Amino acid sequence: MGKVEIVLNSLPMSGGHGPDSYSKNSHLQRRSASLLREIIDKLIMEKIDAKTLISCTNTFHIADLGCATGPNTFSLVEDIIKSIDTSLQSNSTKPEFLVFFNDLPSNDFNTLFTSLPPDRSYFAVGVPGSFYSRILPQSSVHIVLTVGATHWLSSVPKEVLDKSSKAWNKGKVHYSNASEEVVKAYEEQFGRDMERFLEARAKEIVSGGLLVVGMCGIPLGMPFSNLADSIMYNSMADVLIQMQSQGLISEEQVDTFNVPIYSASPEEVAVLVEKNGCFTIEFMELMDPTAWLKRPMDVEDVRQWMVCIKATMGSLFINHFGDHLLDDIFDRLTTKLVGLTEKVESSYREKVMLFFALKRK
Ligand SMILES: C[S@@+](CC[C@H](N)C(=O)[O-])C[C@H]1O[C@@H](n2cnc3c(N)ncnc32)[C@H](O)[C@@H]1O
Repeated sequence: MGKVEIVLNSLPMSGGHGPDSYSKNSHLQRRSASLLREIIDKLIMEKIDAKTLISCTNTFHIADLGCATGPNTFSLVEDIIKSIDTSLQSNSTKPEFLVFFNDLPSNDFNTLFTSLPPDRSYFAVGVPGSFYSRILPQSSVHIVLTVGATHWLSSVPKEVLDKSSKAWNKGKVHYSNASEEVVKAYEEQFGRDMERFLEARAKEIVSGGLLVVGMCGIPLGMPFSNLADSIMYNSMADVLIQMQSQGLISEEQVDTFNVPIYSASPEEVAVLVEKNGCFTIEFMELMDPTAWLKRPMDVEDVRQWMVCIKATMGSLFINHFGDHLLDDIFDRLTTKLVGLTEKVESSYREKVMLFFALKRK
């Protein structure tokens, strides 16, 4: 099995509605996404001509890529529909809405479908497949949004898993605090993935349609080691090495575990958009995903953060180390990070959510 398939199969969020599930533990993502609401509304009102876009069919097509199991996707979609409805108020006939919910095939679509709001004002379709390739027909969608998903690379860069490469990432789980070669390998993987993402969306989005993306970001030139997430990745590596020394996992398992997540700067995305040539940039900004947290972060915030990370990244650990070690890994990680609360609080957390909106030419 190729590395791409290995990662794609292991990404999906913790399914169902249980205590560790994504559906019950995605409130941090929801709060961050809520910061985008007003901007998305403004973009819809000012940047798209909804009336012309749907003049033939009177049906508006929206896609949410990397929708997971809900419920965040539902509130985001509802907000977009409200904005479009408002912008089409003067139309004599009310438009209909069709929403494509996309995620990887192994996503728990059953949980997603059974939680669809019963009083929803749209038709719903599930679209399984990687957004790094085509998933929808040519010119078939008016607004595509994706929140918290495009920082997931299509795979761990192959060089970081290659013992003979300078980018061999021994004893680390991420490019944070890693060698320049490792950083470059992640950066190039992101470049290739974002290129494929934009190519596919350029085919699927109608002329005049909008692509809205919220993902992990970082100011240009800032080392990843400044970020709070860096403390988490370093602690993950420490925990794994400790478990290796206790004979619970092998050295090989530690050395081949890498988290395929990349934080992009606005400047590097802008270069890729320019290279693609099919979109204009309507909005591009780094935002503070924890702007809603008005007080200093405390121990309970760190615990909650880890609960969300477990629901989000748990399957990566399960696939690599086995189901039986998941709780142990996250108990150790939480204890370690709780002890580092002050360090997390004082590290850089401000402009680490990249939000951009592109219009299809
Ligand atoms: C953190 S969740 C975000 C879910 C949701 N958008 C939200 O805001 O709550 C990221 C989702 O992106 C999905 N994802 C990651 N890579 C993907 C890809 N290449 N194609 C489709 N979905 C992908 C994951 O399976 C996961 O469900």
